[in-house]
Amino acid sequence: PLETRCPPFPLRQYGGFWMPEPFLPGMAAARAGFEPRPSDVLLASFPKSGTTWLKALAFATVHRADHPPRSLDHPLRRRNPHDCVDFLESVFLRSPAEDALAALPSPRVIATHMPCSLLPERVTANDAGCKVVYICRDPKDALISMWLFTKKTLAAAAMEDSNPPKQYTLEEALELFCDGRCVGGPQWHHVVGYWEASRTRPKKVLFLRYEDMLRDPVGNVRKLAEFTGRAFSEKEEAAGVAEEIVELCSIDALKNMEVNKNGRQEYVNNESFFRKGVAGDWENHMTPAMAARLDKIVEDALRGSGFAFGDTSEST
Ligand code: A3P
Repeated sequence: PLETRCPPFPLRQYGGFWMPEPFLPGMAAARAGFEPRPSDVLLASFPKSGTTWLKALAFATVHRADHPPRSLDHPLRRRNPHDCVDFLESVFLRSPAEDALAALPSPRVIATHMPCSLLPERVTANDAGCKVVYICRDPKDALISMWLFTKKTLAAAAMEDSNPPKQYTLEEALELFCDGRCVGGPQWHHVVGYWEASRTRPKKVLFLRYEDMLRDPVGNVRKLAEFTGRAFSEKEEAAGVAEEIVELCSIDALKNMEVNKNGRQEYVNNESFFRKGVAGDWENHMTPAMAARLDKIVEDALRGSGFAFGDTSEST
């Protein structure tokens, strides 16, 4: 079936979402075994929604006392954001996961692509426990980013594999996305789950929007700092620390670092995580008919939820 060759992973349905089969054991183990600490910060996202950026910003913000953003040996100048902040479900694929988590600097920053409804119960149990920060992106841009990322991954795999998986077209990618058959899909359900949690439990879940962050990165870094209990002091404000964090984590700065040009994650080159980093690039790839089709599906699915993509009323 089509979904089993939805690259780069075979997908299986889990709790109403399509998740990559190789990560299911990691998700199940994380749900059963993760012991959150009150100081933990869990970064959640649907893939290709700005996860890498959020990882960099959150890591730089919460660890700024130990690693001032202007420091030349800042970890983010030497390591890819994915090497500074791991995914919970990946950590739990390796064992012993708790040892790896215990070794993380405090406060621990950990990421996940798990939908809100599938987060470990110990994470969601009470507002005093670890904080959750979600990043949401327009579905059309997430789709295009995912499609182009996957094409790159496939092209790289084709060079190493004598029986490479077939490339797939934007038409195929759209078909799968509209059907919810992509990592973490349906995307709009993933987003709404966290949006609802952020409305009912604002101390627990901070809901950020990629497009908003592009418009006002410093304001969003301040939000992140306050939410995680580390608001910038007057002295830090006067010294422009939030601005330095934004600069350290800008797509151009990250893209040009040696490690991000030449490093590699398990299945993909680091440079693939940094493409254009703009809002609205879908217009350069999708026909108006394609966009209208996805818009309609999303609109129908969101009716009555109170949530809308592109709505910035809660962010002022
Ligand atoms: P595009 O493909 O639209 O350029 P993820 O990190 O969840 O995989 O998302 C990847 C998307 O975030 C890509 O979008 C990528 O270019 C963008 N991105 C990566 N780093 C960024 C940064 N520092 N600032 C803004 N966008 C960034």
